Amino acid sequence: MTEDLLVEPQALRAEVRHKYRQVAEAPGGSYHFHTGRSLAARLGYERSAVDDLPDSAVESFAGVGNPFSLRSLDPGERVVDVGSGAGLDSFVARAQVGPAGQVIGVDMTAEMLEKSRRIAGSLDVENVEFREGLAEALPVEDGWADVVISNGVINLCPDKRAVLSEIQRVLRPGGLLQFADIANGRPVPEEALRNIDLWTG
Ligand SMILES: C[S@@+](CC[C@H](N)C(=O)[O-])C[C@H]1O[C@@H](n2cnc3c(N)ncnc32)[C@H](O)[C@@H]1O
Repeated sequence: MTEDLLVEPQALRAEVRHKYRQVAEAPGGSYHFHTGRSLAARLGYERSAVDDLPDSAVESFAGVGNPFSLRSLDPGERVVDVGSGAGLDSFVARAQVGPAGQVIGVDMTAEMLEKSRRIAGSLDVENVEFREGLAEALPVEDGWADVVISNGVINLCPDKRAVLSEIQRVLRPGGLLQFADIANGRPVPEEALRNIDLWTG
């Protein structure tokens, strides 16, 4: 185990992949979190941004907030979506940055990647691509992004320093991080941190 991490990253990732494989393949299933269009509405996504997308692009949405509530993206911006899942935020980002912008979604769960790539193909969009990779080792070149977005992912990563360092690496100087995640205002007991079941719900 990495010296100061309380969970084994590989074991945690296996559990996370198992959970989000289900969300990709059975979005109507019963989960300890909300999903889909009703979640997007609850989190304040603009209806116009979501209504135009096919059900397949929205049904597996499992975010915890709305990165676009912090700021709308500007036309032409280059965006990395860390933990892009089935791609809802990447597709919303694409609509905001327009044809001159570019979006790269990164996820580690094969079934989520397949789904997001299938949807991108069906929408026939060229400026969104989905890459397999880890938040802790983003497959994006240094300084490429104007903006990094992320929604509900960093809480699932045991090495948050590594994730934030990667985000800093791929952002250009002065680039922006707009993320939504879960924060606990109190210290979590070590015993709980060691319990992978509690990480994945
Ligand atoms: C809660 S879902 C959120 C997905 C998407 N951002 C959304 O809002 O629907 C978490 C996603 O993060 C991905 N993920 C979790 N840990 C990751 C890591 N270390 N590296 C890359 N992807 C990760 C999972 O595969 C899953 O698709």
